[in-house]
Amino acid sequence: MNDVLEEPGWRALAVGKELAGRSLIFLMATDSTNRVALELAEQGGGPAVVVAESQSGGRGRLQRQWHSPPEAGIYASFLYWPRLEPQDLAKLTLAAGLALARALEKNTGLQPGLKWPNDLLLAGKKCGGILCECRLVAGTGKPAVVIGIGLNVNTPSRDIPPELQHKATSLRLASGRAWDRGVLLAALGKELDIVVATMEQGRFAEILAAWRKRDALLGRELDWLTPGGRVVRGISLGPDQQGILQIRDHQGRTHEVISGDITANPGS
Ligand code: BTN
Repeated sequence: MNDVLEEPGWRALAVGKELAGRSLIFLMATDSTNRVALELAEQGGGPAVVVAESQSGGRGRLQRQWHSPPEAGIYASFLYWPRLEPQDLAKLTLAAGLALARALEKNTGLQPGLKWPNDLLLAGKKCGGILCECRLVAGTGKPAVVIGIGLNVNTPSRDIPPELQHKATSLRLASGRAWDRGVLLAALGKELDIVVATMEQGRFAEILAAWRKRDALLGRELDWLTPGGRVVRGISLGPDQQGILQIRDHQGRTHEVISGDITANPGS
């Protein structure tokens, strides 16, 4: 393993002002780049990306924390003002997952899988996650969307908390080599612009088709922990045209999963 990767792209980014055509705010440390980007949105800021070397309060889905040690991962929040209807905003999480998968495929040759709604997997373990947050900003007439991406890039095993060791990984752990986070982040910015533009053109079906090809859960047995605390066991049919996950239980009933936690049963 290369322990002394120079990451010239990341160093350039740390002193840069721009990333893939949008303004760049690079912070050595913050609580949460999503929080900073939402604040920017409330001030009416234009397309931007907030990047941090480390976060003390990285936010994940379902009120979880995103572990964000320095010199290891990408912690970035992209601010968009997309021309989308409110009912389409939730689909952006799937679109962002596809963008992240494509950026990695093109630049690392790795083949990540996607787990509904917001996880990126390598060899069945989570290496990345997405948290989209929206704000209606008074006087603008359109929603601001912050697409927050956490990706374990060069994270060594010792930086993965003990309780996550069995289910989390990094690009480096999965591929046996280190990667330049700057190169990956620039590629991600471009891929995000592509999927957001595709959504604005009303072509979510194309995103969904590409997403489904990478669906790590399709046909597998899952446990869905509903927001009400009930567990529903069934087979994943994948997301439907609205991006809502469909599960068929063993009595043949189909359930629509809008939120809650999904766990794939081992060996299924
Ligand atoms: C998840 O898997 O639950 C989503 C994790 C998203 C983490 C990223 S790190 C950058 C951005 N800032 C945050 O506070 N959260 C997102």
